[in-house]
This record gives sequence, C-alpha cells and structure tokens, in this order.
Amino acid sequence: MPGCYTDLDLSPNPLELARQIRAAGAGYLDLTSSNPTQQGLLFPAEILQQAAEGYWATRRYQPDPRGNPHARAAIVDYYATRSPALALDPEAIFLTASTSEAYSLLFALLADPGDNLLAPCVTYPLFEYLAALRNIELRSYDLIEAEGWRIDADSLRVAADERTRGVLIISPHNPTGAIIDAALPALTQLGLPIICDEVFAPFHYAAPPAPPLAALHPELPVFTLNGISKLFALPDLKLGWIALNAAASHYAPRIELLNDTFLGANGLTQSLLPHLFAHGMPFVQQMIARVRRNIERACSLLHDHPYLHLHPPAGGYYLFPSVSGWDDEEALALHLINQGVLVHPGFYYGDVPGCHLLISALTDPQVFDVGLAILADHKRW
Ligand SMILES: Cc1ncc(COP(=O)(O)O)c(C=O)c1O
Repeated sequence: MPGCYTDLDLSPNPLELARQIRAAGAGYLDLTSSNPTQQGLLFPAEILQQAAEGYWATRRYQPDPRGNPHARAAIVDYYATRSPALALDPEAIFLTASTSEAYSLLFALLADPGDNLLAPCVTYPLFEYLAALRNIELRSYDLIEAEGWRIDADSLRVAADERTRGVLIISPHNPTGAIIDAALPALTQLGLPIICDEVFAPFHYAAPPAPPLAALHPELPVFTLNGISKLFALPDLKLGWIALNAAASHYAPRIELLNDTFLGANGLTQSLLPHLFAHGMPFVQQMIARVRRNIERACSLLHDHPYLHLHPPAGGYYLFPSVSGWDDEEALALHLINQGVLVHPGFYYGDVPGCHLLISALTDPQVFDVGLAILADHKRW
C-alpha cells in the first residue's frame, strides 16, 4: 500500500501491550506523562473566561497570515523580558496552531525532498514523522552525555553536507534538559539557518533560565519556536509561534504564504494570548515549583544509587537517568511495568550508548514519590 509511511508497523509494541494488560488488572503508576492537564496542573479557568469575554462581543473573522496583531505584540513584549532580552519585530512573528505545525511549515520553507536537516540524538520523537511527510532526510548530531549532554561540535560538522538546509536545536532539551547558554562557534562556522525550539524555556533547575538562542546568534537566521502548550499548560487550546530574528527576516514573505495556506491558528486562542501573558505568570511559577520539587525528590532518592545514575538536569521537565546492570532498555521497561511503574525506555528518544529511562517530573507528586521510591528501592536492577 503506497502512501502515508508505507511500511510503518502500526501494531502496539511489547511495552504498550504490557501496559494495557497491567491497566486492565493491577494498575500501574505512570511516570511518563507530559500532559499537565492530567497531572493536576490546570491553568486557572477564571483567567481564561475573563480573557474570552471580549472576543464574543466583537467576534469577526479577519484572517491575517501573520496572526492577530495584539497577540504578536504580546509575544514581542515577552521576549523583551527574557534574559538576555531579544528584540523582535511584530511583523516577523507568525502564529500557528502549534509548534509541531510551525516545524512542518519551516521544513517546507527550508528544504526540498532529498535535502537534509540536522537534529540532535537523542530527541523527542516528532521530527522523523515531520521529515517523512516532506521526504526530507534527518541527520543526527551527537550530544555528549558525560558533559551534560552538550552538543558535540565535531559531529555537527561531520553530519552537514551540501544538501543540509538547517539545524534543529531544542533548548532546554527534551529529554535531557540540556540548555545552550553561550554561542556555539560550530553553528557560526556552518552558517546554516537554525530552528530553535524553546517550549521548555521557563523550566530551569541546575542552570539559569535558557537564553533565547536568537540572542546568542544574531549573525545566523534563527527561527524561534514556542507556544502555549508547555508555557501555560494549554495544549488543548492550540497556539504556537515562529519568531524570526533580523537575520531571518528575508524569509518572512514565504512564511506568510505558507501560513496563509492553512491559517491554522485558532482566532479565539489568538485573542486570549495578551491576557495569558498579563495574568498567567503566577501559574507558570506554580508549575516550575512542581517540577523542581519532583526533580529534588528524585535527586535525593537516587543519590549514590548503585544502578540508577541521575545528574540534575539543567532544565526542562524530564529526567533521563542512565542505568547500569542492564543493556536491553525494552526488557528493563517491561520488567518495571510488571513491578507497577511505567517509564519510557531510552530508545524511544534515539540510539545512544548505554541504557536510559525517561521519567516525567511533571507527574503528580503523590504518584511521583511512590513510583520513584519503587525504582529507588528495587533490588533486582
Ligand atoms: C520539545 C518539544 N517541542 C514541541 C512540542 C509540541 O508542542 P506543541 O503542542 O506546541 O505542538 C513538544 C511536545 O512534547 C516538545 O517536547
């Protein structure tokens, strides 16, 4: 059957089958959720209600391929408060339905079928599907685990060739939490456009907040991606954005055409954005506190653990500990679901040496503490 991902095996994998069996029986503790709305982190409904009131009274469909001007102005103001501040032109901001859609538009902007983009290994597993939609090759560059998962500049240079059209960067990184805190000479040397995903920007732990990469690399075209699904825990309200720095401004007319093709950003949600920035930050602080509390608990429970090795992440909201004594990540995850704890095996995020697990520090603290205690006390590693 030709078409969408022709030969892709869509049958559930062994861990999903084991999870289903466990769900129908003894149950399990889920340490993998990245859905704030399922973990007791609900953006205050009254702020959303107040924000929406004006919309119903004045509702008209006035599509703008860049997006609602008030929403874009609020985004400009937000980046002016970041450290270091990033000055943006409201005409160089494009509102999309999500950061995932933003990636897809940028892949179409930058690459033709057969071209390639450089992506980190490990990474959260979205890019391969988006690249397949456009017949674009993804080439991996390495992250060095022993050095806090910093980007391996040599592997970045080696991965690039004459058909490389851009570099994907996630900072804070999912799943390792690594933050890029200074300009990378290898990026400047390559001179390629950068797509920087900073959806986890508010979440920092062992390092200061992530600086906007566009502020570190003003000489390169940088497309900054962000949205409300992580920042305000509103994944259901579907809003993301692409912000172009001055060096990327010449791409604006083509992004306008691409965004106009779908006009995917929801009018109501766009209209809410200024109110979310004005009133939502106390809630963002609560989320940050939740994630910090869980990371601290995990670090203290796993301190000097003989088999589970956790280094405090710079940021983000995941933990990606390495495990000694196992070399088969799937067998390990199956073993743990049979003990009543669901974690993701590291290979869901790419192929790196050693054995890793993913744990979400967004998890409801009651579930997190019990699940982590089971992992920490477990004798059969
Ligand atoms: C690094 C990163 N970027 C983007 C997304 C998706 O964001 P959106 O809901 O805006 O598509 C995710 C989702 O987990 C993510 O981990």
